[in-house]
Amino acid sequence: MCGIYGCISTDAADKVLEGLRKLEYRGYDSAGLAAIFPEQNGPIETERTIGYVADLVSKANGRFTGSCISIGHTRWATHGGVTDQNAHPHSSDDGNITLVHNGIIENALHLSERLSKLGYKLSSETDTEVIVHLMDNEIKTQSDELTYLDAFSNVISQLRGSWAIAAIISGMDGILVSRNGAPLVIGRGVDNISVSSDVQPFYGACSEVAYLNDGDIFYISGSGISSQEGSMIPGFETLEGVYDEEDPGNFEHMMLKEIFDQPTSLSNVLSGRITADGRKARLGGFSLTPEEIRSLDRINLVACGTAYYAAEIISAYIRKFSNVRSEAFIASEFPARSVCSTNTLTIGISQSGETKDTLDALFDAKKNGSNISAICNVIGSTMSRLTANGAYLHAGPEFAVASTKVFSNMVATGLLFALTISEISDAEQQEIVQSLRELPNLISKQLIDDDGSIDTAAKMIHDSEPPIFIGRGGMSSYLAKEGALKMMEISYIPCLALPGGELKHGPIALLSDGSPVIAIVPSDGKMSLMESSIRECKSRGARIILITDSEGPITELADVLIQTNKTHPDLSPLVNIIPVQLLAYNVGVLRGVNVDRPRNLAKSVTVV
Ligand code: AGP
Repeated sequence: MCGIYGCISTDAADKVLEGLRKLEYRGYDSAGLAAIFPEQNGPIETERTIGYVADLVSKANGRFTGSCISIGHTRWATHGGVTDQNAHPHSSDDGNITLVHNGIIENALHLSERLSKLGYKLSSETDTEVIVHLMDNEIKTQSDELTYLDAFSNVISQLRGSWAIAAIISGMDGILVSRNGAPLVIGRGVDNISVSSDVQPFYGACSEVAYLNDGDIFYISGSGISSQEGSMIPGFETLEGVYDEEDPGNFEHMMLKEIFDQPTSLSNVLSGRITADGRKARLGGFSLTPEEIRSLDRINLVACGTAYYAAEIISAYIRKFSNVRSEAFIASEFPARSVCSTNTLTIGISQSGETKDTLDALFDAKKNGSNISAICNVIGSTMSRLTANGAYLHAGPEFAVASTKVFSNMVATGLLFALTISEISDAEQQEIVQSLRELPNLISKQLIDDDGSIDTAAKMIHDSEPPIFIGRGGMSSYLAKEGALKMMEISYIPCLALPGGELKHGPIALLSDGSPVIAIVPSDGKMSLMESSIRECKSRGARIILITDSEGPITELADVLIQTNKTHPDLSPLVNIIPVQLLAYNVGVLRGVNVDRPRNLAKSVTVV
């Protein structure tokens, strides 16, 4: 979702374009750029366009070479359609002030009414444009001893909602920045000081990073960060991690590469989290000790989308292995007041660590007395800094919009957490941990052994009626929901997912001759019940795509059999997710969808 990159350096705009390119994975529909040149006074040069950063580069046509300060933006439309006029930057009428913004200004309507009384006319449908006219008015009306930073602060104090803003003014030698509820970080390298929505573009350009906090308002220039008196300036720290180029290598798409990354990312998530004798899980990083966690009233998990389905599986693990009550909540529906108290723990589960709905749920949890922690992928993200405790996923950067390897690492990390606080016997724990250690190899084998069944299933689905995913017994029905989400995201086919037992209570009415039903059936205690559900579907003409590790009679019910490798029943979601992801990928490709950047979706959802 929207990306900001700004830079003070020689050839600043070229660096901004490169930064924007590295933010592309966040998802966007238009892009724009503004720059100041040495000794410049007068209107700031800008360019903006719908489409990609590559389109912006063509449109800019080398005009920005030699600039010394630049800001750029990738926009994911919220207020106003996808048009050149709505793309950022937005400029004052005289062109001397220009800015880019992520987030939503909730009182934009009220502010625009005030601006219109002052004679300002808005030329876009965005909520952002009010900020630049407020700046213009403030600068023109403030007393002489006040600075641009003072004007900026006064404008910020009038805004309600969420924002990350970078603004430049003709004649100024730096960039004004502010954040509130939308991410913004400052990077410093030998030849530049830069600002970005996340640290990805800093790798290779900056060695240090400073994280802004909500409410921060700063001026950044070649000499560092400055603020109004009384504000705390964040210190620079070493930039951790390594940049992984968004390069699919030999794979056709990033999504496919990330599916195939899973043996490695799963090895990484286990590394250092199993005792030296290989018998027990030991997930560190949480402020509360395992003993303290065991004595809590409940553990709430808050997350969105794929992370929520992982959270459902994790809460099932916690319930199974300990006596602590645990429940997963869709973050935007989190009933904090009813489920939080000082004797609870609320864990945010997130890839990006920037998902606004999840962050808001954590804030609410904290406000209602709960301890908070995070399980997330991005080091230094808002969520990891807000909670300051928890566990990283170590999945490496995930670029494709559809989350794949991160889902598996969430489930694996959650399993390690549940085992760490568990009250099961040593022998039982050892058996699961042993299977976990074997998992990367097992999945590797699963990925390599392609018998063509996924391809056959994809051909069956890609132009058929909407498929129904079914599972049973908690984990498989949660996985069915993730299967349906993945399929919808990258194929645009409406899908349904439900526990097998629920079919007969209504949704079975959807089935007719040839309807595809994807049944996820690990060899566990629920297999015979799933067999009944499958038979109910078959008798209504449905075609069954069966994902199972069983070689028994149930396989005879399959129209397409996708055979998985056997593992410990508790690990079945981690094995069954592989064909589920590959099936969605294959259907998406067959339908000609840009699977890495499906329409309307953003990688990091920073608005509510
Ligand atoms: C996953 O394929 C989705 N693109 C989406 O549901 C995602 O999982 C959700 O928006 C949560 O994101 P997060 O993990 O970064 O918090």
